[in-house]
Amino acid sequence: MRALLLGLGALALSSAALAARPVRYVPLPEAIPAGFAGGDGDVIVRNCTACHSLEYIVTQPRGKGAQFWRDAVTKMITVYKAPIEPAEAEAVSAALAAKFG
Ligand code: HEC
Repeated sequence: MRALLLGLGALALSSAALAARPVRYVPLPEAIPAGFAGGDGDVIVRNCTACHSLEYIVTQPRGKGAQFWRDAVTKMITVYKAPIEPAEAEAVSAALAAKFG
C-alpha cells in the first residue's frame, strides 16, 4: 500500500512537471510546402502548424491584402486560442501578406 501511494505521488509530481514544460511542435520537412522553409517562412511555420497543416494557408485566395492576413491571424488567436505573442503575430501577418498578397 505504501509503495502504491509513493508511486502515485511520483506520478502526480512527474505529470505536474510535464504540464509545466512548454511543448513545441516541429513539422516534418515534407509537411512544409515549397516557399515556407527559411527566411520569412520560418515565423509562419513556427506559429501556424500546431493545429493544422500549412495547406490551410496555401489554399486561401491570393491578393486579399495585408488586412485579410492580419484578420486571419487575429481569428486564430481570439477564436481558436493560438498561443501567439503580439510581436510574433505582427511578424506572421507581415510575412503572410508579403508571400500571398
Ligand atoms: C490553436 C490552433 C490553431 C493555430 C495555432 C492556428 N490555427 Fe488556423 N485554424 C484553426 C482552426 C480550428 C481552424 C478551422 C478549421 C476548420 O474549420 O476545419 C483554422 C483555420 C484556418 C484557416 C482557414 C480559414 C478559416 O479562417 O477558417 C486559415 C487560413 C488559418 N487557419 C490560418 C492560420 C494561420 C496563418 C496561423 C498562424 C498564425 C494559424 N492558422 C494557426 C486553428 C489554429
